[in-house]
Amino acid sequence: MAHRDTAPYAPQEPQVVRDLVQSLERHKGKGKKGAGGFSVKKHTFPLPNGRSVDSWKMNEWDYKKENLPTYARGLFTYKTRDGNDEIAVRGYDKFFNHGEVRKTEWRNVENYTKGPYELSVKENGCIIFISGLDDGTLLVCSKHSTGARGDVELSHAVAGERWAEKHLASVGRTKEDLAKKLRELNVTLVAELCDDSFEEHVLAYTPDQAGLYVHGLNLNLPDFATYPGHLVDKFADEWGMKKVMYVMEDDIKNVKSFLDKVAETGNYDGRDTEGFVIRCQARENEGAPWVDWFFKYKFEEPYLMYRQWRECTKAMIAGKPPRYKKHPQITKEYLDFARKRFTQEPGLSKAYNMNHGIIKMRDDFLKARGTTGAEIIQSELSNGAVQTKDVANSIVLVPIATIGCGKTTLALALVKLFGWGHFQNDNVTVKKGRPQFFADSISSLLTTNPVVVADRNNHQKRERDQLINDVSRSVTDARFVALHYVHDRSNYDDIRKATRERVLARGDNHQTIQAGSKGQDEILEIMEGFMHRFQPLDPTDAPDDQFDLVIDIDPTVSSRENLEVIISKMYETYPALFKGTEMPNDTDLDDAIDWAMNDYRPDIKMDLSRNNRNQNQNKRQNNNYAAQEPKAKKQPRMEYFSVRLNAQRINSILEAMFDEQDSNTAKFYRYLKQSRRIQSEFHVTLMHRASAADNQAYWNKLMHLHEAVSQTADPASKSWDPELGKCRVKLERIVWDHRVMCFVVRLDGSATVQVQNEGGSGTEELQFVSSNATAHVTVGTADQNIKPKESNDLLQRWLESGTQGSGIEELAVKGNVVLEGSVRGVLGRM
Ligand code: GTP
Ligand code: MG
Repeated sequence: MAHRDTAPYAPQEPQVVRDLVQSLERHKGKGKKGAGGFSVKKHTFPLPNGRSVDSWKMNEWDYKKENLPTYARGLFTYKTRDGNDEIAVRGYDKFFNHGEVRKTEWRNVENYTKGPYELSVKENGCIIFISGLDDGTLLVCSKHSTGARGDVELSHAVAGERWAEKHLASVGRTKEDLAKKLRELNVTLVAELCDDSFEEHVLAYTPDQAGLYVHGLNLNLPDFATYPGHLVDKFADEWGMKKVMYVMEDDIKNVKSFLDKVAETGNYDGRDTEGFVIRCQARENEGAPWVDWFFKYKFEEPYLMYRQWRECTKAMIAGKPPRYKKHPQITKEYLDFARKRFTQEPGLSKAYNMNHGIIKMRDDFLKARGTTGAEIIQSELSNGAVQTKDVANSIVLVPIATIGCGKTTLALALVKLFGWGHFQNDNVTVKKGRPQFFADSISSLLTTNPVVVADRNNHQKRERDQLINDVSRSVTDARFVALHYVHDRSNYDDIRKATRERVLARGDNHQTIQAGSKGQDEILEIMEGFMHRFQPLDPTDAPDDQFDLVIDIDPTVSSRENLEVIISKMYETYPALFKGTEMPNDTDLDDAIDWAMNDYRPDIKMDLSRNNRNQNQNKRQNNNYAAQEPKAKKQPRMEYFSVRLNAQRINSILEAMFDEQDSNTAKFYRYLKQSRRIQSEFHVTLMHRASAADNQAYWNKLMHLHEAVSQTADPASKSWDPELGKCRVKLERIVWDHRVMCFVVRLDGSATVQVQNEGGSGTEELQFVSSNATAHVTVGTADQNIKPKESNDLLQRWLESGTQGSGIEELAVKGNVVLEGSVRGVLGRM
């Protein structure tokens, strides 16, 4: 195998770096409005030793432009003690998918690159840069920041530094040693931070797998130059860090066939991958010098279709209706074929479920049909199907949000920048059929606008479902993009703070939510109602699996920041949409947000107050409001009562129990853990609404208790699920089969309830019991198609046939493990 044996080296030239810094300075922030070019953001981070480093960041969409002073993603500079500019950290050059830019068209890759080619799985974690400064200190950064300041990205750098210390200690070296070495070599060490205790990844990392995975050593120069893989590995070994896995190929033809092969399943080394990064050398033309160069290979069609077939087949085996949207005709045909095969050959479905025969099933189908996957895709295209990268119209942006997140601000800014369409639900004045009217307006706007923002909260699945269905009916090729303002319940306080501040500051400058003249309490209550009903996006299930793209944005950061995220993602996903468009620079973005926040006034105003019905207009708009949010003032429905347990305790009990078991006994538990199928929240269900009729008296008492407690709960905090009492939960044993695992438990707890009877009112002691046949806590299920309530069936079979030959296993919980749980009623579906 061809090897580049020696490490590249070149020192920094002060003059060159000074030119770089000056050029970046010139493009900082204020580019001339509409002038194109590129925009650079500079952030200065203080260091513990009293000095500072500057981070330089360009807009993602600028990297396709020519003649940038550098293409580094992740760049930090500082002033040395003798007054020179120096590059402290240098990331990789931005790299593109094959076919995405001229240089990555496959023909050009074949003609203008040379091996050895190093292929590694495209990482999705958090990148960490490490380097040494002139005073002998070590600098650890994430892509665009360093140091600790309590915000998430900043703490990545801190977590990275802790790991560096740990790794170094394992080989008896210090941070100073590493700093010195890196500076001597004039390189930045690039690593992936993989640590589940810090941040969860798709695939679980056990404590001994966690750490820094070194994947590059880049020279600290404006032009990209990086170490060959074997020298990166050697360095990682010497400094006690982890290595990444990569495959070497000399011939570009083999690279292609390797990638095509992995793409068959999208699975490499036991994990589903999005694609690969290929490192090699490239040159501009025949005589030009070879330089280090990366590109990526993302799995696309027909492989995505094959994956869809696999998932649908598994759903079918599990007895679920397969859900799919793409390639509908051929997928149906394939599933009919698979179904027939499963009935003909008993045992085949079981094998399939264990990932055997997936490719054979597909190949048999293709053979029987006499086509290849590529031909299928080709014929779909010639029949009018459009690939995502070619989509240039009929896109609906669907915010998923609550009041005051900044939906209208963002929409207006996008309108200003790209001339897209925008329709606000708050402008709908019809009384009846508001949702239909809203969807119809979006559909009409799509005839003259490539993109339309459906400005409504869409915070519940039924709203998303309605919008998607109604628009798709008239615009059959519509694609939906979710602007998902992520609402983690753990983050509610921060979200409340941000949105309340904005709404109160907005005052009356809104159609319906007029915080200036309304009572604050009323506004806050409406806002709280939305927060409470908010249903996060779930891409695995209807209706959210209909979204073509999901863009996660943060309701607590500025609309300016979110705007950039949205444009980057849209640009990356739908390049054809922006063809011929001069992409905005930072000044354009600032101006657009500025205009949206300061110069926009709603065309109409509505008074929502229920106490103010003396004017015709008000009357109309009251109705309007009632129709718009029929449930805003109503209490959501009670779903179930349960005893909630401390998740951390349960997890450590599980870990301790299975730690001392042999690997066979612990197998299912390890599987659940590895595939992230352990519940994030643990509870004992007392009674579900669905079975209320079985013991109406008990349900009524629980309801009664809930209402009594809710009334006395602090109205300011507006807690929707107040604690109804405490209940002791004794963990007795743990029972599982190959589908579900649960604890069998015993409950001990009660609360005092007020009761009305003929003799007047009195009190009664309400014992907390479970209406399920066996009180239990579900630990997890093998996949998302298996619902936690299947614990009931498992325990039923366990009671009837025990563990002999039933495929059921059990373990006793040793000692007397009793947890104190919190009894609560759970409202609505969240
Ligand atoms: P509703 O229509 O009430 O559901 O709200 P919305 O999600 O459309 O929010 P909107 O865009 O109206 O933003 C709420 C208020 O916050 C407006 O007054 C905006 O001008 C203001 N706002 C939006 N983004 C920002 C921001 O980044 N910073 C600040 N300070 N204010 C913002
Ligand atoms: Mg709005």
